[in-house]
Amino acid sequence: MDVFLRKSNPAARATGVLAVGVAEGSGKLSGAAQSLDRSTRGAVSAVLATGDFRGKHLETALIYPEGVKAKRVLLVGLGPQKELTPQRVLAAAATAARRARELGAETLAMALHTGATLDPATASAAAEGAVLGHYRHTAYKTDAKPPLDRIELLSPGAATPRLANAVASGELRGEATCLARDLANTPGQDLVPEQLAERAVEIARTVGATAQVLDVPAMERLGMGCVLAVGRGSAHAPRFVVLEAAPTRKPRRGKVPTVVVIGKGVTFDTGGYSLKPREGMSKMKYDMSGAAAVLGLFASLPTLDLPFKLVGLIPSAENMVNSRALKPGDVIRALDGTTIEVTNTDAEGRLLLADALGYAKRYKPDAVVNLATLTGAISIALGRACAGLFTRDDAFAAELTQAGESVGERLWRMPLWDDYLVEMKGDTADLLNSSERREGAACTAAAFLEHFAKGMRWAHLDIASTAWTYADRGEYARGANAFGARLLVKWLEGMAAK
Ligand code: BES
Ligand code: MN
Ligand code: ZN
Repeated sequence: MDVFLRKSNPAARATGVLAVGVAEGSGKLSGAAQSLDRSTRGAVSAVLATGDFRGKHLETALIYPEGVKAKRVLLVGLGPQKELTPQRVLAAAATAARRARELGAETLAMALHTGATLDPATASAAAEGAVLGHYRHTAYKTDAKPPLDRIELLSPGAATPRLANAVASGELRGEATCLARDLANTPGQDLVPEQLAERAVEIARTVGATAQVLDVPAMERLGMGCVLAVGRGSAHAPRFVVLEAAPTRKPRRGKVPTVVVIGKGVTFDTGGYSLKPREGMSKMKYDMSGAAAVLGLFASLPTLDLPFKLVGLIPSAENMVNSRALKPGDVIRALDGTTIEVTNTDAEGRLLLADALGYAKRYKPDAVVNLATLTGAISIALGRACAGLFTRDDAFAAELTQAGESVGERLWRMPLWDDYLVEMKGDTADLLNSSERREGAACTAAAFLEHFAKGMRWAHLDIASTAWTYADRGEYARGANAFGARLLVKWLEGMAAK
């Protein structure tokens, strides 16, 4: 969905929906809301006076005032002016785009500035938000509300190149996340590991990154016993995707660092012979949400200017059952030589990540982040409000938490103590892939991963609690949401600025 920047007064623009941002509780109106109020001889003030709409963040009111060229005006709450952030603007723009689409409008014009001018940060956030809020997974719908024909962002001043660039980069980031959402929303039947790998190659090609896809013989040569074992029960063979993007500029000092991001790519998780109950299985097409986040990041690369090398690793398999499938009690060997007794074939994500972490070591990376819909237990611990963050590195934890906070993707720190690893030690093999106890399952899973991450600056995000949206809100649409993609973009952007 293109977003066009246009110099115009809100009231002067002919459009299906004119969305105007209104800050909360500011005695006197400002920016677009003030301009609209003047053109409509007080329509905004009148609504505020009723108390029906106060400008609370994401609150909306649909009005039909005189004095505007638009068919209807959607007032969108921005929350208190003092608390206004680009993320709040983004969610407000998303709310406007969703509502415009629901109304069946053809065009949306947004005026979200609260000052005399539109600044680039606001413009970029508005564009990104509109694209995200407009998103729906419609590939299989024959009766979906049609998309909008056009989205515009109105600026009171000239559409300078700087503003236009901000809009373009916001739009591109929004599209990147939508692409990742589409992947995660695609049914398992239509996105098997081979297809996920093909999509990764396509994305790499469009952003000028390189992609290498390891098939079964290649993984056998390397000794990726875990990915091979998880994939063995499926007619659709596993893949291991390696994406590499070179730095686009020199670091200010020292040699070029390397950052590795890893995404769990289980295209469908039946649990294997440790079969999932039916309710637990129905959504498991999104068990490649970690991979989707990594691909969303790669698709966003044109908006970043990174002084470091970025590597994306996607171990991908379909966790199924057949006569060759992995069985409880089987012992497998990870890329790094560790032997693992598979006590539960449903704890397959950590197996894929074990090989990916082993592979990451060859880069001697400066930082490694893995994202995975790893455990149901993380939702038991945290609910749906945040994802679990596991790392021993306080500074790293702070960086990631901060990045997440600023894009509305909350993380909460979870413990990584040796006590958890004790539970993962085996008699038959070095490690068990699943503890005998259910308690603390998100933590024992993280401890298992840490074994393979030793020596690297590493963090694990368990996104099983957040990767699915249950009710439309702000930039989130029901279904798989590619949680983590925007966080990674923000994190790298912050690192690049240092
Ligand atoms: N993909 C699941 C985790 C999951 C559960 C993701 C619910 C999203 C929603 C993972 O592979 C899994 O099955 N984990 C097991 C681990 C257990 C066997 C230790 C789980 O959470 O039950
Ligand atoms: Mn599983
Ligand atoms: Zn899984």
